[in-house]
Amino acid sequence: MTLEKRDIPARIDHVLETHHALLHKELPRIAAAAADSGAPEFQEVWSEFSGFVAEHLMKEEHMLFPTAKAMVAGEDVYVTNLDGPMNQMASEHEQIHALCDRVRASLEVGDGAAGERDAVLALLADLAVHAGLEDDELFPAISALAEEAAVAQEQREVAARASMADKIREMEDARPTHEGKRARLKKALGGLFGR
Ligand SMILES: [Fe+2]
Ligand SMILES: [Fe+2]
Repeated sequence: MTLEKRDIPARIDHVLETHHALLHKELPRIAAAAADSGAPEFQEVWSEFSGFVAEHLMKEEHMLFPTAKAMVAGEDVYVTNLDGPMNQMASEHEQIHALCDRVRASLEVGDGAAGERDAVLALLADLAVHAGLEDDELFPAISALAEEAAVAQEQREVAARASMADKIREMEDARPTHEGKRARLKKALGGLFGR
């Protein structure tokens, strides 16, 4: 589904308030529960998964999403290309999917997630919906927005160069030329001597 430009901020807020908020709540809670009840295999995988996801959330929350919102608001964000960051986010999603598989596998080992099995599976299911929403709707819409912003910026730069060239021409035209000075002097002298 194509996401309209005007709908991007609301979709970002939805992702933050539902999917990101759930991860911020559950990642540390499940880590603490696993630590309390002793599930070393699960704890190790969870710690790696949790660290990677938390860093990914931070990049979206502090860089990508504020930039996208500023672009929608028409703020003068300096954007040349968001392809690099967008590709990185998509590749991080791939890594997150692989880590989810390892978390799922670790549920079968030893004490599993020590009573948190259902909560872990629910969180992974929510994460799959979350990543799908970003991959299929939000990221393509933000990429299109960045392209639009880059074109607008190029146009502003061209207009600024043209206006600078106009100002230089005006200054040159306004500068009294040698011929002009002679003509004015002749006219003034003609007035004095009645000619
Ligand atoms: Fe996200
Ligand atoms: Fe993401």
